[in-house]
Amino acid sequence: MENLSDVRLINLPKIEDPRGNLSFIEENNHIPFKIKRTYWIYDVPGGQVRGGHAFKKQQELIVALSGSLDVLVDDGKEKKVFSLNRSYYGLYLPIGLWRQMLNFSTNALAMVLSSTTYSDEDYIRDYDDYLKYRLSHE
Ligand code: TYD
Repeated sequence: MENLSDVRLINLPKIEDPRGNLSFIEENNHIPFKIKRTYWIYDVPGGQVRGGHAFKKQQELIVALSGSLDVLVDDGKEKKVFSLNRSYYGLYLPIGLWRQMLNFSTNALAMVLSSTTYSDEDYIRDYDDYLKYRLSHE
């Protein structure tokens, strides 16, 4: 089962230009999956926390396109906080990890690239269920 050491902060390409910088992501190149869905989180009121759950099949990449946020990742044994504060950082999350998104700055825009289309059955939303899931997959 994937754990915290499989989570990676990816430095995406950044083409610097006096006219403005440009970054990009190619599926199966900068990220190890094909992109089936993109969603984004924005207009988050101060202090709000999103995304406290794990996915059984979904791999994802989280990019703070604007502003900043923290992503707390937990594999059931250890927790780690990744700070996303540059538009060229991508946080790659493999399957089976609990994650929360918090400390959104004003005007933060978090884009998530997902390896799956939306499926409610893919979510583990209860932390105790998550710990049981991890134990049964050791
Ligand atoms: P959810 O992933 O549960 O966000 P959070 O954990 O931050 O609350 O999504 C919130 C709601 O949006 C939920 O009712 C499902 C819906 N949703 C979709 O319909 N499609 C999507 O691609 C996503 C990500 C969520």
